[in-house]
Amino acid sequence: MDTVQISIISPYSDEQHNSLKILLDGLFPCPEVVAKVMMDGEAHTKSMLDLGGSPRCLCIDVANQFPQAQVIGIDIAPNLQKTSPPNCRFELWDINKGLSPFYGQFDLVHMRFTSGVHLVDHHASTLEAIKCLKPGGLIICLKIGLSVKEDRVTVMPAATSRMPEQSWYQRFFSFVELGSTQRGLPAEIYNHDYDEGFWDHDTMDAKTCGAAFITIPLGAWVTTSDPAETACLRTIGKFWAENAMRIHRHLDHVMSSAGRSEKDIELLHTHLDNELQTTRIRSSMIIRAIWGCSQSVEDANSRNHSPPRDEDAPLPLLSNEPGEYRVITIFDNKPTWTKFNAQLMSTMTPDTKKLRGIPGFDPIEA
Ligand SMILES: C[S@@+](CC[C@H](N)C(=O)[O-])C[C@H]1O[C@@H](n2cnc3c(N)ncnc32)[C@H](O)[C@@H]1O
Repeated sequence: MDTVQISIISPYSDEQHNSLKILLDGLFPCPEVVAKVMMDGEAHTKSMLDLGGSPRCLCIDVANQFPQAQVIGIDIAPNLQKTSPPNCRFELWDINKGLSPFYGQFDLVHMRFTSGVHLVDHHASTLEAIKCLKPGGLIICLKIGLSVKEDRVTVMPAATSRMPEQSWYQRFFSFVELGSTQRGLPAEIYNHDYDEGFWDHDTMDAKTCGAAFITIPLGAWVTTSDPAETACLRTIGKFWAENAMRIHRHLDHVMSSAGRSEKDIELLHTHLDNELQTTRIRSSMIIRAIWGCSQSVEDANSRNHSPPRDEDAPLPLLSNEPGEYRVITIFDNKPTWTKFNAQLMSTMTPDTKKLRGIPGFDPIEA
């Protein structure tokens, strides 16, 4: 596997982290589960490991929120810009080497935005991360994905030579996934991990597992019935569009791995900048989160922990209503989560699918 280190996202992570905090109304998509694992029992024995945590913001916030807990962030790249509270430290470590020095020590293990272009093997590192949990400890993983239309339940069609008015961001993101696959980390595998969640994992307690579908406006286009909320979502949308503009210029090597020519990449940049500076396309980036607790000793002894399965369970409220913008939907069982993911992917146009799967598909040279 190619091990190019991409460090361009870190400088912006304070703002990125702060915008996520606003959207999630806190640090995590499952605050109750976090509170349970971090607050049950002796506070001074609690600990968190943040994988890819060099931007430090999350670690520092957790260390401040749980001042008696120990917080460790590990990252392949150092970040020496911030001072940390005394209960928070950072170590240089390449996640792809495995996590054996950290096994069995943590109540909470967190892994956000380390897959894809970062060339962290999500599947292998998740299995390793689970081994870092104490019995009953909680793992939370978050990943950025494709973008959806304003309705929140339809994948935005990617721009193609025949349909240049469609989304260039989606085209770009398709190449990120394909480029990652071509560079040795099949997007299909880490997407599958997210489709499945932790419900059926051998060492996890299914009744503690959950997933979240989180949408973030890409651009300042949202209008809701509340002017303050509108202003906030527009500021956040503007930030993420600017963030995307900063990032795409640094990923030409990933675009090349996806079979794009230099000319094609240049045109992509031009169209992307135009799209991200306007509100012509009203899309939202998707973040998917999955979490679950490892079995406690009692669970492991009884092994009868799966909640009843209801294959026909209705989906939770998902789509946006006029004048409202939904940020997060929580799924507490696997059937609805997998059904939702399958329905969402079925809305992808054949061209978008091909752009994600066939190197060099639909060259745009003019
Ligand atoms: C997009 S940033 C996300 C940062 C942080 N987790 C957050 O959500 O704000 C990805 C982080 O993963 C780190 N990273 C990339 N490859 C890594 C590896 N092989 N081992 C450890 N950290 C890695 C990068 O240095 C960077 O800090």
